[in-house]
Amino acid sequence: MTAQNLSDPVAFYDLRPENENFADAMRAGLSRYPKSLPCKFFYDQRGSKLFDQICALDEYYVTRTETALLISNAAEIASHLGRDCHLIEFGSGSSIKVGILLTALRGQVSYTAIDISKDHLRASTDALAQKNPDLLVTAVCADYTKPIDLPSEIVKQDGAPVVFFPGSSIGNFTAGPALEFLAQTADLLRPRNGGLLIGADLKKDEDILRAAYNDSRGITAAFNLNLLVRANAELGANFDISAFHHDAIYNASLGRIEMYLVSDRQQSVKIGSSSYSFAEGEAIHTENSHKYGVEQFQAMASAVGFEPVKVWIDEENLFSVHFLRVI
Ligand code: TRP
Repeated sequence: MTAQNLSDPVAFYDLRPENENFADAMRAGLSRYPKSLPCKFFYDQRGSKLFDQICALDEYYVTRTETALLISNAAEIASHLGRDCHLIEFGSGSSIKVGILLTALRGQVSYTAIDISKDHLRASTDALAQKNPDLLVTAVCADYTKPIDLPSEIVKQDGAPVVFFPGSSIGNFTAGPALEFLAQTADLLRPRNGGLLIGADLKKDEDILRAAYNDSRGITAAFNLNLLVRANAELGANFDISAFHHDAIYNASLGRIEMYLVSDRQQSVKIGSSSYSFAEGEAIHTENSHKYGVEQFQAMASAVGFEPVKVWIDEENLFSVHFLRVI
């Protein structure tokens, strides 16, 4: 499990988030009707890079708004977290936003980054450790959509644990799994009276939402289609990438953006010896992004043992950052 190299400033744990699952998930997802795939497979090396480009898009207000909220409220956020906290980030990606907290905390903070994308995680945490030589950095390659058994030396680390879960990734869970994730997080924090700093995207005008997930440069489309590119490269599938397109619609009754890969024509695709047929216009559902009202989110977190402490919202009412404490 542990692949720790003492000359490396970052302690690295590979919990092996079962890559072979991609093949199983593909087979199962394309065999059901309607077809669907779990979103965690977006984040291979190329997918992680495309996602960073999404975060920089004009239409994708999420990253820029959350980042601005963290910057303008950094001192107040730091006072809630405590100068000697242990930050644990789920889905740390490029570990950019956490830098804002570290600057504001200026204390004996330690940081554990958890991400499914191994090479990207290594590169990001190495860079962070280099920039912050006094920071104790730990990297854990794991799939946070499943219960994670964090190594005990991480759990026991000094400082009250604060889980950092930005980016509105909570919105990518459906209701049941979102509650499960929050309940597991509460369990992790409870023994040490920890806190949760979490971003949740707010409900808003549908035009803003649709533009954010259908950008004019086609980066989101490339990111979504990367699932098929990945299947071709890793599973020997023969998807004709040019015969599928990306679509994102707002489902108002469920309060969520839904992402799809749509087949442009009737076709069949082979993965190994199995073949899967697509009708013209048939869609693979690849992602949901739920939008939460403030009270709605707080009620959900309260149901599994959190107490809302403070919420920060930008002037345009686009995005919320919540701090909650476990009770
Ligand atoms: N957590 C992000 C969100 O829901 C993830 C995301 C942004 C995403 N754009 C995407 C996922 C496009 C799939 C496709 O906003």
